[in-house]
Amino acid sequence: MSKLIVLSNRVSLPNPDKPAAGGLAVALQDALTETGGIWLGWNGDIIPDSRDTSADENTSHAAYQPQFGQVVDGKIEYLTCPLTQNQYDQYYCGFANNTLWPAMHERQDLLEYNPAEFETYQQVNALFARQLKAIAQPDDVIWVHDYHFFSVARYCRELGMDNKIGFFLHIPFAPLSIWQCIPTAERLIQDLCHYDLVGLQTDYDQSLCMQACTTLLKAQKIQHSLVSYQQRITTIKCYPIGINPAQIQQVAKKHANDRQDVFDLKALKHQKTIIGVDRIDYSKGILERFDAFAAFLEQYPQYHRRITELQIACPCRMDILAYQRLFRQVNQTVEKINDTFAQHDWLPIDCTNEVVPHETLMGLYRLTDICWISSLRDGMNLVAKEYIAAQDPENPGVLILSKYAGAAEQMQQALIVDPTDTQDMVNALKTAIDMPLEERLSRYQQLMQGLTTFDINDWRNQFLSDLRKNHQLENFKQPIRAVNTAYQLL
Ligand code: F6P
Repeated sequence: MSKLIVLSNRVSLPNPDKPAAGGLAVALQDALTETGGIWLGWNGDIIPDSRDTSADENTSHAAYQPQFGQVVDGKIEYLTCPLTQNQYDQYYCGFANNTLWPAMHERQDLLEYNPAEFETYQQVNALFARQLKAIAQPDDVIWVHDYHFFSVARYCRELGMDNKIGFFLHIPFAPLSIWQCIPTAERLIQDLCHYDLVGLQTDYDQSLCMQACTTLLKAQKIQHSLVSYQQRITTIKCYPIGINPAQIQQVAKKHANDRQDVFDLKALKHQKTIIGVDRIDYSKGILERFDAFAAFLEQYPQYHRRITELQIACPCRMDILAYQRLFRQVNQTVEKINDTFAQHDWLPIDCTNEVVPHETLMGLYRLTDICWISSLRDGMNLVAKEYIAAQDPENPGVLILSKYAGAAEQMQQALIVDPTDTQDMVNALKTAIDMPLEERLSRYQQLMQGLTTFDINDWRNQFLSDLRKNHQLENFKQPIRAVNTAYQLL
């Protein structure tokens, strides 16, 4: 049987003392175990550049190949390598997180483009393609994850690989107007068309991706989710990532009273509690949420000492200027709001920068009254799904969810808000606080139904089953002509 090979920028190595926290890691490990498989990626280490690791200016994609370390766990082999300082600076901090990330999150104001960084991004993609070539049998299926690897399939094809190669984008897809700000956009979208299957989080992202292919490349749309470009057919389809609701429900119940040292929930027994959990990233709308909370406290002084916002704000990508700046702003804003409203026995915002273990987090979700998500653009936002799954079915909390989070496409029974509209968020918070049990139950049950209908295993199985299907261009000769004719008639 063909094996599965997963490539992701970060790799979750097995740790016997700490079971894999995220549902995604577990779902992928399950798939890898089923057929036997390999998980490939960066090990998180950065090594100094030396002569043979730095790219030769005159030869693009210099063939430097790092040493891959191997860890075997049951039927899964983990192969990981370090990045050189230059690769980390230019591929990870540079093109991936200073160009593609802001582009995909529609932050044109933060988008920077540097040709050398693009070149290093290509070199890293080529490096992983060479490693794939070295380990893959012709019938192995390859699943590439996220925006770090738009171009891997192109290099695999150049190396003569005919394997089924799928790509799943965990973050949003940029609209055409933003792609047009990236000088190498056309090249990247061409690279994407070397995959057999491109998976997106939402219908909206799917349509943006299709539009980029048909407009930037003049690729031909054959059906709703099929595009043909230079003799190759690529499926572009939406697979909204899910969670494992039954397992989260269990974990949340078990750990509900685990660790009260993250937040002193016992002391807040008589207060309404709001939970916010975010990486400190400008896509999350953390400052917009704080502003709305301050506006709420202005407008409803009767809630002073009766409501607390609990915020877990985890710093990340701190080698990038925009993230350093935001980290400072988040902490300053918390300080400012607390200075304005705090009383001797009440702190309106209790914020920690600590990384909280997943099971503790699920327990916290169960104990809090409201979860508030205000992303300005977000691939899915699994906090939304996990918060709902962690609730007590007899007394569930309320989810306030940004309309710009991918999750909003499927979670319409949440209180949907526009995070750029402060008053809209203030009103939603008031509605959440006042919501009677009957309404909370009804919304919760419908949301749970959605989470159960398409869970993380369905997501994985659907993607892999579509990837294994065979779309030959010959099969579409007829429809292609039909589409052309229809177009000419218009
Ligand atoms: O949401 C996209 C993503 O790359 C996730 O896969 C990852 O968990 C998160 O962002 C954190 O990113 P980084 O690996 O850059 O810290």
